[in-house]
Amino acid sequence: MDKIMVEGGRPLNGEVAISGAKNAALPILTASLLTEGRNTYHNVPRLRDVESIKELLAHLCATVETDGETVRIEASGLCKSEAPYDLVRKMRASILVLGPLLARTGKARVSLPGGCAIGARPINLHLKGLSRLGATITLAHGYVEAAADRLVGDDIYFDVPTVTGTENLMMAAVLARGTTVLRNVAREPEIIALADVLNQMGGDVQGAGTSVITINGVSELQPAEVSVIPDRIEAGTFMAAAALPRGDGPLRACEPDHLRAVVNKLRQVGADVTVHDRSIRVVGPEALTSVDVKTLPYPGFPTDMQAQFMVLMSVATGLSLIIETIFENRYIHVSELRRLGADITVSGNAAMVRGVPRLSGAPVMATDLRASASLILAGLVAEGRTEVNRVYHLDRGYDSIEKKMAALGAAIWRE
Ligand code: EPU
Repeated sequence: MDKIMVEGGRPLNGEVAISGAKNAALPILTASLLTEGRNTYHNVPRLRDVESIKELLAHLCATVETDGETVRIEASGLCKSEAPYDLVRKMRASILVLGPLLARTGKARVSLPGGCAIGARPINLHLKGLSRLGATITLAHGYVEAAADRLVGDDIYFDVPTVTGTENLMMAAVLARGTTVLRNVAREPEIIALADVLNQMGGDVQGAGTSVITINGVSELQPAEVSVIPDRIEAGTFMAAAALPRGDGPLRACEPDHLRAVVNKLRQVGADVTVHDRSIRVVGPEALTSVDVKTLPYPGFPTDMQAQFMVLMSVATGLSLIIETIFENRYIHVSELRRLGADITVSGNAAMVRGVPRLSGAPVMATDLRASASLILAGLVAEGRTEVNRVYHLDRGYDSIEKKMAALGAAIWRE
């Protein structure tokens, strides 16, 4: 099994290009199920999760062609409407085929994604929304079965904003009869990216990026050709790495507008952040200052950056209170960071981090995607060698992170 070795103490220095966003690519690729023609997507990141969704689309008999970062998908002859357990358990975002399959074929059978390392992650709001559009939903043998002749628009309120729940409902409503209004929806940039694709396909989706989305259903859609937006979490991860003492990391091909909360926090900890049109430069201070942070739905500070930020706070001067409000179990990286010498106490959804002068390298275990990224950052700043095991989590969502970091001067390699 692969592991990543990091020899600490070499600050990142140099320019890095940010890849396409995983969490934008996954829903956009599944939106191909809504059309009969051949869709073309550029800037698709090379990730395990993208491979998993392509495998699922191929399983449904869509034709999938990959040429570097361009992916073409044609779903004219769908032969199945089932996402089996073996594919869904690899990646819970497979639930994103539920809405489009139901809209296009009138039925869908999708294995229920279980909980995962970071929380229970229910899909009750996806199901409630789809049933409001007229779908009959049954749960049997670990599968969600949904059926409807043609979905009919309705007014739907989400109890909490859910990213993939909003996306599933958008993809279902775009082919429904009449108007659907989705309220208290997620406002992430990935939602806007999906709306742009659906509109390019001939859909009528208004208000994405606000908390109310209105969708006027159409009877059919045409294929689209789009480029995936930059990955704001990959960008944030490199920004956090560059903010470590004496780092200097200009980022290319990113979207600073999507990173306001992260830029704001990095400035508070003492990093010098310069923002340009499509690039950001982060210069780390001699010593980081502790600040508090609370994760929130976009445009708040992203939960997907909480673990990486905790590493900065682990070596900052002072005391930092971190509050995680999105997922109930997203502190699994804490015990690994403690093995490197971090002083962190967790109580419920709060983590108190007392900055220490130095971390010291040790073998650690990656437990989920963003936790893995935090261990790499900790390895960069720790004295000596850190060995990050189970890096398949990392490969799910970061395109060659160790190669990109090595090109910036870090002593990091895969074994
Ligand atoms: N929730 C419910 N019921 C639902 C759906 C969600 O109670 O039916 C709750 C969740 O338990 C959670 C909150 O709503 O407390 C928000 O969860 P959300 O549904 O927004 O998360 P998600 O759509 O499953 C996406 C990203 C995650 C990211 C979260 C939050 C994708 C494929 N995944 O997950 O990304 O952390 O939004 O921003 O877009 C990652 O990339 O590492 C990752 C975990």
